[in-house]
Amino acid sequence: MRGYVLKHYGGPEGAQLMDVPAPAMRSRDILVDVRAAGLNPVDFKFRQGKLRAILRPKLPFVLGNELAGEVIAVGSDVTRFRVGDRVFARVAKDRAGAFAEQACVDEDHAAPMPQELDFTAAAAVPLAGLTALQALRDELGVGPGQKVFISGGAGGVGTFAIQIAKWLGAHVTTTASKRGEALVRSLGCDEVIDYTAQDLSKAGGKFDAGFDLVGGNTLEQMFGIMRPGARIVSVAAIPEPQTAIKDLGGRRALSAAFWIISYGIRSRARRAGIGYRYLFMHPSGRDLAQLSELIEQEKLKIIVDKTYPFARISEALAYVESGHAKGKVVVMMG
Ligand SMILES: NC(=O)c1ccc[n+]([C@@H]2O[C@H](COP(=O)([O-])OP(=O)(O)OC[C@H]3O[C@@H](n4cnc5c(N)ncnc54)[C@H](OP(=O)(O)O)[C@@H]3O)[C@@H](O)[C@H]2O)c1
Repeated sequence: MRGYVLKHYGGPEGAQLMDVPAPAMRSRDILVDVRAAGLNPVDFKFRQGKLRAILRPKLPFVLGNELAGEVIAVGSDVTRFRVGDRVFARVAKDRAGAFAEQACVDEDHAAPMPQELDFTAAAAVPLAGLTALQALRDELGVGPGQKVFISGGAGGVGTFAIQIAKWLGAHVTTTASKRGEALVRSLGCDEVIDYTAQDLSKAGGKFDAGFDLVGGNTLEQMFGIMRPGARIVSVAAIPEPQTAIKDLGGRRALSAAFWIISYGIRSRARRAGIGYRYLFMHPSGRDLAQLSELIEQEKLKIIVDKTYPFARISEALAYVESGHAKGKVVVMMG
């Protein structure tokens, strides 16, 4: 079968489409005939070698973190799926393999696809949708009437985050350029700040919760617009000890390393009286089922910016790497 394979870390030339063996199934796996796969910044960051401190699979390695497709075989211990089911999934981080004609997925990481979605739209949901749900619902505990600030609302995660924060009952402010403003407003965002023209001090009022999708100077400015006691969750800045303990299996050496690299940002947060947490989202079939329900109830729209045939996946990844996608980018297999 064809797969998009990482041969060596570095630039785009490190990954290529080639023939690969079919993946080996485990007893709790479903084997999926992949019809579409979503792309995410983690795909090029992984190719660049930026995740090597956390994930070190043996190369060559089939890339790809989320997919939609049809189940064509089930392992001996699988109880929730049958051959012929249409499923979507954020696959295990250390296995990846979604950029291929077939992929093995642990049944706990998959969910039945929402009824009305095609494979392309379904493949756009798992990674970004789960990230937004786990950050806003679980980490920030967003509730009715709260003022939530989301940086970078027009991208893959942001388009889900705005809608999920609205579903949780929040008043939502985000940053977007002129190119993204109409999109974020169409998703229900209450206030939009043009990040290319204004700084965040224009956001007005103190926020109860912040979800950072940009990092750097943007996160720095977010500390100035939160009310004391508020919390910021970032998925784009610097990991801290909780990231290693809660999200990466309690790895002590990693926790110590994260303590050091996050010292500045944690001190900054402490001075402002604000909680700071860096989240690594996790695969979850159960959370995906919740997203599926929201999609079926028409509370969550899927924004797909561009689709590409699988043969042009390098081009698709270059577009994601440009940092200007509006919503999601998806490759189609068939
Ligand atoms: N830790 C985790 O578990 C996790 C999970 C998911 C994602 N992430 C990370 O979260 C970040 C966002 O992911 P994504 O999938 O949403 O990325 P994305 O889809 O590539 O985001 C692109 C969007 O960001 C906007 N943007 C760029 N710079 C901005 C700025 N300074 N302020 C506001 N908006 C800006 C762009 O708007 P314009 O084109 O209009 O400039 C574009 O619409 C990435 O760093 C990704 O790696 C982490």
